[in-house]
Amino acid sequence: SNAQTRVLRGPLLSFINDPGEGDSPAEGSVLHLEDGALWLEDGRICAVGDYQELAPQLPAGIEVVDYSGKLILPGFIDSHVHYAQLDIMASYGRQLLDWLNDYTFPEECRFAERAHAEEVADAFLTEMLRAGTTSAQVFCTSHPNSVEAFFGASQKRGLRMLAGKVLMDRHAPEALTDTAEGGIADSERLIADWHGKGRLGYSLTPRFAPTSTPAQLDATGGILRNAPDLHLQTHLSENKGEIAWVAELFPECRDYLAVYERFGLVGPRSTFAHGIHLDQEMRNRLAAAGANIAFCPTSNLFLGSGLFDRQACRDAGLNTTLASDVGGGTDLSGLATLKAAYQVGQLLDQPMTAWQGFYRLTLGNARALHLDQHIGSLRPGAEADIVVLDPAATPLLARRTARTQSLAETLFALMILGDDRTVYATWAGGECLHRRDAIA
Ligand code: GUN
Ligand code: ZN
Repeated sequence: SNAQTRVLRGPLLSFINDPGEGDSPAEGSVLHLEDGALWLEDGRICAVGDYQELAPQLPAGIEVVDYSGKLILPGFIDSHVHYAQLDIMASYGRQLLDWLNDYTFPEECRFAERAHAEEVADAFLTEMLRAGTTSAQVFCTSHPNSVEAFFGASQKRGLRMLAGKVLMDRHAPEALTDTAEGGIADSERLIADWHGKGRLGYSLTPRFAPTSTPAQLDATGGILRNAPDLHLQTHLSENKGEIAWVAELFPECRDYLAVYERFGLVGPRSTFAHGIHLDQEMRNRLAAAGANIAFCPTSNLFLGSGLFDRQACRDAGLNTTLASDVGGGTDLSGLATLKAAYQVGQLLDQPMTAWQGFYRLTLGNARALHLDQHIGSLRPGAEADIVVLDPAATPLLARRTARTQSLAETLFALMILGDDRTVYATWAGGECLHRRDAIA
């Protein structure tokens, strides 16, 4: 056995299937071991089981990392986030379109400079790992350099990431706009250089309908038709003003979604961020295409965009993923996303269980993004991306979790009271990349 062979020992939780919306998880949907063991080799999980049962098979002298009293889970996945907006989080007093013009576009202009993009990419990945997030689908900016910087930083850490260059050929500052042909040529070059390289994948990234000409959207659909293993990420029906603008710009389309449909952008690897203001017929069309909506609760609240109806999506058979949408979002932490999702659910009489929440953050997001053969669960063959939570991370959490009566109650306390302090360690590709108590 080589140096990368290790065992992580401790309480362990992973999903096998959607646990459903009930207070108890659906039969067979959860793997929970009180004293579990994860055997890691060459960046993958090679065995999972009860520690006592696995112990006799372990090579003599193998390193055992003791996480007793903690909780070992698959690394969290963020289905929609903008790395270049890290430094404009918490910008006051605007809703979407003014927020873009007043804060976002000026900030994104700074990414023309490669050194700046590299510095932010590095800080962003450090923050993600501190929050227990090991994979994400990421908007860069319209500058190809911003994508090079992000993929380079991800590759250096061995992270599984999806990302893409923003396509935007109108209605933005000149320093940020590409052209229909230039944006496509840049995307094709980035795809050739990065897609499928190690753990990296490319996501075509038209920002949203108002900032692309029909020619650019049409060319994007053309790439996707010829390369169906690419992902696509954009925004849909987030804000009332945005929706009215799309109706003006595309009068021939019957609704916002029809714009994306017309250009062939709605498929099984398409993620539409927000999707707040949809009717059931639009949800049905998205579901039929196998697309997913990224529910971004902290962003939807922060930008005053609206309350996302998770139950209506479930009724339509439409996959919902969970996302931070930083910098519209207020927190990179998956736990913070769960807390806000729960609060939105309460306002709509559809409170989200902890089972459902932790499923969505892990296997649910992995499945919806077609990454579940690699990540999202703790099973033999999966990549060793792992988060270790500390149920006693703070004095308050310690008090609260000392009196929980079940795993469901503990998970719920973690999602309501937890934050980055709750993340005791984060592993990716079989390596420990964040340790909360590391000595600087
Ligand atoms: N719609 C178009 N661009 C953006 C963005 O950067 N953030 C959010 N939240 N919505 C968008
Ligand atoms: Zn977004």
